[in-house]
Amino acid sequence: MRVNGIPYRSIWLDDDCWSVNIIDQTFLPHEFVIRSLKSMQEVAEAISTMRVRGAPLIGATAAYGVALAMRESADTGSLAAACAQLLETRPTAVNLRWALDRLKAALEPLPPEERCSVAYLMARDICDEDVDINNRIGEFGLRLIRGLWEQRRYDADVLHILTHCNAGWIATVDWGTALAPIYKAHDTGIPVHVWVDETRPRNQGAALTAWELQAHGVPHDVIVDNAGGHLMQHGLVDLCLTGTDRTARNGDVCNKIGTYLKALAAHDNDLPFYVCLPSPTIDWAMADGVAGIPIEERDAAEVTRVRGKTAGGEMATVQITPDGVRARNFAFDVTPARLLTGLITERGICPASEAGLESLFPEHGAGAT
Ligand code: MRU
Repeated sequence: MRVNGIPYRSIWLDDDCWSVNIIDQTFLPHEFVIRSLKSMQEVAEAISTMRVRGAPLIGATAAYGVALAMRESADTGSLAAACAQLLETRPTAVNLRWALDRLKAALEPLPPEERCSVAYLMARDICDEDVDINNRIGEFGLRLIRGLWEQRRYDADVLHILTHCNAGWIATVDWGTALAPIYKAHDTGIPVHVWVDETRPRNQGAALTAWELQAHGVPHDVIVDNAGGHLMQHGLVDLCLTGTDRTARNGDVCNKIGTYLKALAAHDNDLPFYVCLPSPTIDWAMADGVAGIPIEERDAAEVTRVRGKTAGGEMATVQITPDGVRARNFAFDVTPARLLTGLITERGICPASEAGLESLFPEHGAGAT
């Protein structure tokens, strides 16, 4: 996607061909800062402090983290230690484990002197695959949006889509998951309008999704997290589209905290709620998402404080709670499959269920060898 007319991915190799450039998302939307990561430790820090975030981008960045670790030492102990340290950075998005398992399985059997170059190639492939997957999700999602637009009420002049958190191009390597269909619909002339949940506490909607949509010229309004139910009751939402950090085998979807409440409201109002799901985000070993998916709990300071731009243009952090107050910061929740209309994957759209997922990914089915 473009920033000030220049095409970017969210992660790329520097001209030196070994350091890894990222867009530091902690500065957005007010500053566009590119940071160069030169060690596995810097990669781990960037993931845990959310300079990079979003399930697919976390996986891609971790893959480059292994490559950087192999530059320093490529023995088997270093490989295991790098994978273990990177896996610790964030617990919920399964793309992290998926990428690390893939690299570890491929690198371990190799002689140490080959591991670094292969790790870089694999990290590049993971990035390219992610772009391809999201492009396909965008195409399937576009068909869905086009169908809804063609069935619109006679007096509708715009299709309202509600999204939560940021599942856009900067949460992936490019395109995004939930925003990919929206970009494509907008580009093909379907008049979409996006309701952007602010997504407290870190405001990924207000800060990142709004920044992306503004740059691409997609009409949108930021709303407070609790506004969605009201809008749905009054016919102002036609479709809900979100991403996911981990989807269990039974179709339960873990995503940013608050997604569950939006799905409940959509269900109560008979509105379609689809989740855009790249296959590396499916945890085939997780039978029941509500019971089993680990939910990250982050620093309470993210709840008690808010960071933003002052009227004078300075960046500042302010405290919004009484001094000494206790707070809890659950970063994700799980939406049970029964509340979802469907899952949009790179292979097509399916019901949110084990049978639905297996119909598109038979290689993971019960009968698969
Ligand atoms: O805590 P974050 O910002 O990493 O959470 C991101 C989300 O919840 C996204 O919706 C999810 O990763 C899908 S991104 C394509």
